[in-house]
Amino acid sequence: MTNSKIQIDHLYKIFGANPQSALPLVKDGISKQDLLEKHGHVLGLNDINIDVPDRCITVIMGLSGSGKSTLIRHINRLIEPTAGRMLVDGHDVLAMSKSQLIDFRRYKASMVFQKFGLHVHRTVAENVAYGLTVQGIRLPKAKKQSHKWLERVGLAGFENHFPAQLSGGMQQRVGLARALATDAEILLMDEAFSALDPLIRTDMQDVLLDLQTELHKTIVFITHDLDEALRIGDKIAILRDGSLIQQGDPQHLIMHPADDYIFDFVKDINRGRVLKVKTIMNAGQTVQGPEIPADMVLEEALQLASGSETRAANIVDSDNSVIGSISLDQIVAGLARPQVDSPSEGQYR
Ligand SMILES: Nc1ncnc2c1ncn2[C@@H]1O[C@H](COP(=O)(O)OP(=O)(O)O)[C@@H](O)[C@H]1O
Ligand SMILES: [Mg+2]
Repeated sequence: MTNSKIQIDHLYKIFGANPQSALPLVKDGISKQDLLEKHGHVLGLNDINIDVPDRCITVIMGLSGSGKSTLIRHINRLIEPTAGRMLVDGHDVLAMSKSQLIDFRRYKASMVFQKFGLHVHRTVAENVAYGLTVQGIRLPKAKKQSHKWLERVGLAGFENHFPAQLSGGMQQRVGLARALATDAEILLMDEAFSALDPLIRTDMQDVLLDLQTELHKTIVFITHDLDEALRIGDKIAILRDGSLIQQGDPQHLIMHPADDYIFDFVKDINRGRVLKVKTIMNAGQTVQGPEIPADMVLEEALQLASGSETRAANIVDSDNSVIGSISLDQIVAGLARPQVDSPSEGQYR
């Protein structure tokens, strides 16, 4: 993967009257529940280390209360950590002066909120232009620039509408256009699509993915939905009770869930539509058979391989060179649920 844009480095957040006094307890491994019941403090984040790669979508997942919002709000320092560092392009956001921080929020990192966060008394165009006027750009010019972004998110013609006249999906398109208009390199999206109906939500994921092929922003995207995470994430990090349980390539996560908590997330996904042939291929081996792309999902590969005489296929990368092969049996095995040593069903539901 590419270089890291954001480095989250031994980050701790404890809520309560005297977080520093509770820090040694957390470092000694006290549970979130004990910290609350015996010491009256809430464990928000516990020694989080994540590299957020440049120009990629990093998804932060976890059940409600696991610390996702707390984490993302550290990136633009809406929350100060109890300990640890938050580096963006190598600069510690905690070392920034007040004015540097204001510039950082205006130019470098934009947020998209779950509840859209639009100004109800401003028109769509004015909402999108707002971030630009804050940057010192005059309203007529800002509105012109806004138009371009409204067009990009499919809202041309709605410039003079007010937010209340739009559906939820359309309002979030405005939210997205507003975040993009400032030209920020980083987008922070906290459950941005979670309030939307499933079909609208899929539309918004498509809009985001489509924009990303062109814009290559560094996006930190929070969701509690694994299907969404798998659809858009280049990288996924999973939190539980303030701790990072597993992070990495989504395909790896599905194949090798680190514990029962992750297993519970991944066990019911449609593996045929998510797993790619490159994930389960015999690397370096070739067979007699058709050639299929490395990113093809198992469901499609199943049809091709079963139609081939040898019941196998070669796998080619984006340069069309053969990198391995896969057999029908392997594909079928890949479609089956993962094996874990001792799955404790329902423990985290
Ligand atoms: N300001 C606060 N004061 C006390 N506890 C908080 C505060 N903000 C968050 N928490 C607690 O920190 C934990 C993580 O919360 P949050 O980051 O909102 O989780 P998520 O976004 O994953 O649902 C929860 O236990 C929550 O109750
Ligand atoms: Mg949250």
